[in-house]
Amino acid sequence: MKTSFIDKKQSEDRISCLGDNKLNHIAIIMDGNGRWAQKRGMPRVAGHKEGLTTVVKVVKSAVKCKVKYLTLYTFSTENWKRPKSEIDFILKLPMEFLNRYLPELIANNVRIETIGDVAYLPVYTRKALQYATKRTRNNDGLQLNFALNYGSRHEILLAMKEMYLDINHAKLSLDNVDEQLFSQYLNTAGMPEPDLLIRTGGEKRLSNFLLWQLAYTEFWFTDVLWPDFSEEEFMRALDEYQQRKRRFGGI
Ligand code: FPP
Repeated sequence: MKTSFIDKKQSEDRISCLGDNKLNHIAIIMDGNGRWAQKRGMPRVAGHKEGLTTVVKVVKSAVKCKVKYLTLYTFSTENWKRPKSEIDFILKLPMEFLNRYLPELIANNVRIETIGDVAYLPVYTRKALQYATKRTRNNDGLQLNFALNYGSRHEILLAMKEMYLDINHAKLSLDNVDEQLFSQYLNTAGMPEPDLLIRTGGEKRLSNFLLWQLAYTEFWFTDVLWPDFSEEEFMRALDEYQQRKRRFGGI
């Protein structure tokens, strides 16, 4: 039987995603894979494998809720400190995910993008992402951003250097530099800033994720480990987000 990424019942049931707060962009720190596996006496990578299943569920929910951008912290610039076998395993997951789900992502109008310094990723990871990005370029539904070899401080430094070069080559005047212009030098250029940040796994820190972009984002933390994160939990996050009063520094 052919399975659909989004079944009909799900697509009819989007009322619970709605509220007064706009919800264009959700960013997620997917933490707790290793602990999930270790609690079960399994190797840490088993948690990452199970984490891929949660990614599928969350993407489905985001499509259903008509979220415009979903950014997933998949591999940070600090994650290179992990054992090589674990790094290799994580960096194969985008390829596995895309090999299996790309047709359904296309059918659901999802656009794939990557943020981070991708030049350092293995060829198989880059190729899978380049292919998916190209194939989904004209889709205008959910934009699914995989943050890979992403670190916010690194991103900000690169942006600063690039801006310096543009000023030096007289392509840009220092007088015109403001927050909006600087944002255009970041990997997230052209995207709205996240409205909601979700972090699973119990830790309450940003771990070098989107430091500039999260200035006015609402944060939602849960102890649930990423492989156990369900559609219900996702909806709970959205529901709680809708109770927040967003004032952006005003009154
Ligand atoms: C953090 O948990 C998780 C990661 C560094 C890897 C995240 C990757 C996935 C969830 C799968 C990605 C799937 C696709 C489709 C690209 P941790 O290992 O730090 O957990 P711990 O805190 O319990 O050790």
